Amino acid sequence: MIETVQNDLNYKKYVVNSRLQYFKPHSTKIEKTFAEEISSSLNSDSKYINPKFFYDKKGSELFEKICLLDEYYPTRAEISILKKMQSELPLFLDDYFRLVELGSGSAVKTRLILDLFDKLYDKIEYFPIDISEILTESSELLLKDYEKLSITGIIDTYEGGIEFVENFDEKRNLILFLGSSYGNFSPSAGKEFLEKINSTMKNNDLFLIGLDLVKDKDVLENAYNDSKGITARFNLNVLSRINDELDADFNLNNFVHSAVYNQKEQRIEMYLKSLVTQSVIISKSNLLLHLHRDELILTEYSYKYKLDQIKGLMKSAGFEIKRIWLDDKNLFSLTLASKK
Ligand code: AVI
Repeated sequence: MIETVQNDLNYKKYVVNSRLQYFKPHSTKIEKTFAEEISSSLNSDSKYINPKFFYDKKGSELFEKICLLDEYYPTRAEISILKKMQSELPLFLDDYFRLVELGSGSAVKTRLILDLFDKLYDKIEYFPIDISEILTESSELLLKDYEKLSITGIIDTYEGGIEFVENFDEKRNLILFLGSSYGNFSPSAGKEFLEKINSTMKNNDLFLIGLDLVKDKDVLENAYNDSKGITARFNLNVLSRINDELDADFNLNNFVHSAVYNQKEQRIEMYLKSLVTQSVIISKSNLLLHLHRDELILTEYSYKYKLDQIKGLMKSAGFEIKRIWLDDKNLFSLTLASKK
């Protein structure tokens, strides 16, 4: 880092060079620590671990591997839609748009949009928003490949980051929220999140959201129970993370991965199942955890949507749908919307 500057938006600015800068909020926000969250979520009758804790270095690497699996169709389906959209998206980009992404994005997906912007504009501005500093690594690679690109990374929550971008200047934003990340929200938390995005957006901004579609139970369950066992490792890794970071003594051999599709709730439910009656010490959470044989710890919901539900959801959060694209097998959807 060459220069750090305080700015009046309550964020600290880090300038790396003329094409790369970051903003990070001064730590004014009161957020619960990992130890506190685990202490309360595992100290209840229905035990759970928030899926945001999957993504330490090892967990992020395993997730990248999941995205390449034959059974895990969402990534391939979404990429095929992004390719198909190349000729149609420009019809909605009638003026200059800056690219904003919630999550720092998988290289392939972001690059497909950057390729398009490269053809449309003389300069490209990309504002990735991510709570983890992981975005610093991918940014440098992108700058090498796109000469017209400059990057402003925002290391903050999605809600905080969007508010920052919208107050930054008057430019129009195309906001990406890809990868069916929305599916990991409960419907009520998800709706609140969409309303927040909508109320923060400018009137002429655009929002592109990737949502997974309801489909055959077997296809869904195979996607979350892959034959190579990568999803199982991804799920179990959260226990290793708790061992390492919170000084705990989970024995991973005493747990198995389980993922089932709940048809009524339209969601994959992912659990870690205790194979024996056992006690686990989590020192930094001040917790002695008791689990009985076959007890489940919920680690993730992944909701799937029907097209009508997507339309209803977007409308109720204050959006006007411009266009919905599907892949050739109708597995996945991308919805482009503006404020109503
Ligand atoms: C990140 N998220 C959208 C993935 C999903 O499909 O819900 C996480 C995942 N969990 C197991 N496999 C993939």
